[in-house]
Formats: sequence, structure tokens, C-alpha cells
Amino acid sequence: MPETSRVQYSPKDVDVEISEIGDGIYRIAGFDNTFGITYNQFLVNDEKPMLVHTGPIGMYTKVEEKIKEIIPLQKLTYVAFLHFESDEWGGMALLDSAHARLVCSDLSSKLNLTGWYNVPADHISFWDNETLKTGKRQFRFIMTPHVHHWDSMMIFEETTKSLFPSDLFIQPGNNKPVISDDLSESMINLYKGVGIFSSEIPVRRTTKRLMDLSPEMVYPMHGSCIDKSMFSKYTDALIKNNFAYSGVLLGRTLETIS
Ligand SMILES: [Fe+2]
Ligand SMILES: [Fe+2]
Repeated sequence: MPETSRVQYSPKDVDVEISEIGDGIYRIAGFDNTFGITYNQFLVNDEKPMLVHTGPIGMYTKVEEKIKEIIPLQKLTYVAFLHFESDEWGGMALLDSAHARLVCSDLSSKLNLTGWYNVPADHISFWDNETLKTGKRQFRFIMTPHVHHWDSMMIFEETTKSLFPSDLFIQPGNNKPVISDDLSESMINLYKGVGIFSSEIPVRRTTKRLMDLSPEMVYPMHGSCIDKSMFSKYTDALIKNNFAYSGVLLGRTLETIS
């Protein structure tokens, strides 16, 4: 029997750090040696604070400790996951907050959160361009189907022009919380080696829509945050280079693809 994926995908022994990136927006990040990437969670503080992804279950206890440095856990109101994958909300079962509601896309709700035994059904889902006010902030939900997954969405916090794109604009390595180098080539090579996009077409359509939003700061789930001065390096790279799946998945070649 091969080792279970659960062991491989649950990085428990990582150091988790917190840093304030924008006003009241915190990056809680841990570097996982297995894949050579960071897992970043984002706490957006407000009257009703939101956590954008939980990280995988093995890391979540440490993530929760960092949340408690900023707010009492009972104040956490929303936990958003941007597609159905364990690093997006695998820690949710550990969440010790009576008031936290799961937030997801309508597709995640219809496809993945209903119809399973023992999956928490209590959640709020959003369709394209719908918004959620959490106090002084307003979150806009952007449906991005087939940018990684069928149910994928992204979130744009409008008052600070903060973009949470999940697995778009990710970079490998353990770098500074906000990147000042151009790692767009590493991003493209990472996508080629992991095979998370089936086609460049929906990714490029979404990239153009995100450029029109003119984000001040981009908060990817893996790698460093990207401020507006560097954003065009990453958007250009996605528009000019090919990076879609070509028979390689998580670094392994699928020999049956010709
Ligand atoms: Fe993902
Ligand atoms: Fe991810």
C-alpha cells in the first residue's frame, strides 16, 4: 500500500508566521518542504472578520494560534474557501468559533457541499458580482470557472482594492511577505510542472478581468503578495506564455498521454 495522501498533504511541522500586509489584512504563512511552497491564509479584520482559506488540516492549529493574536476566535465571522480543495478549508473542522460561517461559490455549494455524508452543510454561497459587507469593508465575489477548478472563485475587497486570487499568481519558495522580485518565470514553470490549468483560455480571460480591477495588492495562496508595481509582470507572463497541462501532474509525467 502506498503512503496515504493525507499524511503527505498535512504539513504539521511547519513554522507559521503572521505579518500585516495591508491595513488590518494579515498573511498567516507556513512553508512546506514537501512541495516547496508556502500555504498562506489571510485574516481580514473588520466588524465581522473574514479568514480567506484555512490551510490544510495539519497546519490549522498553528494558523488558529496566529488568528488569536489579532482577534478573539469567537469574533471570526466568515471563513471563505475559493475552490473545493483541502488547503482551502481542510482546517475548518478544527475551527473553534461558534459564529464562523463557511463562504464559497454557488458552484462549490451545489457540487461539493451538498449531497455528502458528514460534510458541514451550513454555508453561504455567492454568484458572480454579488457582494458581502463586513463592516467598513465590502467583498465582491468573482466567478472564475475552469481557472484551476470548475467551482473556482476569487474575492476582491473593494475598499482597499485587495485581490484574493487563490492559486492564480502563485510562486514557489519561501520569500518575503511582499515580493519585490519578478518571479513570474518561476510561476509559469510551477504551473507547467503541476498541471493545475487545463487550458490557458479561461485563465487569460480572468487575468484580463482582474487587470481591469487595478488591485493595489494581490494575496495569492502560495508565495508572496504582489503589489501593484509588480502585478503587470505576472499578468504579462500569463498572457504571453503557455502553461496549461501537458501530461505532467504534480511533477510526474503521465505516460499514457501522447
Ligand atoms: Fe487549489
Ligand atoms: Fe492552493
